[in-house]
Amino acid sequence: MKKNFLTLSDLSGDEIEEIFELSREIKERSLKGGSFHPLLGKSLALLFEKPSLRTRVVCELGMRQLGGEVVYLGPQEVGLGQRESVEDCGRVLSGYFNGIVTRTYSHNTLLRLANSASVPVINGLSDLYHPCQVLSDLFTIKEKFGRLEGLKLAFIGDGNNVCHSLIIGSSIMGMEIRVAAPKGYWPKQDIIKEKGAIITPSPEKAVKGVDIIYTDTWISMGQEKEAGKRRKAFRSYQVNTKILNLAKREAVVMHCLPARRGEEITDD
Ligand code: NVA
Repeated sequence: MKKNFLTLSDLSGDEIEEIFELSREIKERSLKGGSFHPLLGKSLALLFEKPSLRTRVVCELGMRQLGGEVVYLGPQEVGLGQRESVEDCGRVLSGYFNGIVTRTYSHNTLLRLANSASVPVINGLSDLYHPCQVLSDLFTIKEKFGRLEGLKLAFIGDGNNVCHSLIIGSSIMGMEIRVAAPKGYWPKQDIIKEKGAIITPSPEKAVKGVDIIYTDTWISMGQEKEAGKRRKAFRSYQVNTKILNLAKREAVVMHCLPARRGEEITDD
């Protein structure tokens, strides 16, 4: 049976560790300059409704470096759900490709695509989750600290797609997560309840003694019309030196990017 990757909950802790092991191996091989082509003869479609820098580049380069083929299909080419129905896209692309990475506005579009495709569908960001981002963040954190279990992470800002995936990822890997967000912008209740995140309106409280401070834009793709209202609501949720000084001395700051410098994070 095919396996989709739509949310981090689709993976167990052991599967995540297996992916990390493979990633470490591939990273080592590529640092040594050797070629490794386990994806020879495989093809991947990148079906994107929203802009992308990192996700697109790493998927394209990653496929090519591992010997596979990749085709990028942006919003102009496909018109997902407008020029063609989501289900027709899922069925047709399944005839040509071994997998589909998709970036959608609505998580529901992603689910419809996954249900109609007969090949694995990978979530390259939806309004609800960003699992690939957080999987690589967890890999980075493990490289830096040598472990994940028991680490404390504070997410400051919007309880958005990245925040949801961080809550799920932290819960699977035994990390403590605290989210500081203004009322009205908290992560979804069912995710908080099921995964056990600590929510507070106070960024100062959230960062006390943490190992990692994480933030993301206050205005995600698709929310541009609410920019003014959001800037006002999140004004006191900026990651800056003052906030950093409340975390552990050796704490690291992470941001999934793109950053709006001077808003959710300062240059220093
Ligand atoms: N929350 C951001 C993440 C960008 C990688 C967005 O959805 O636009």
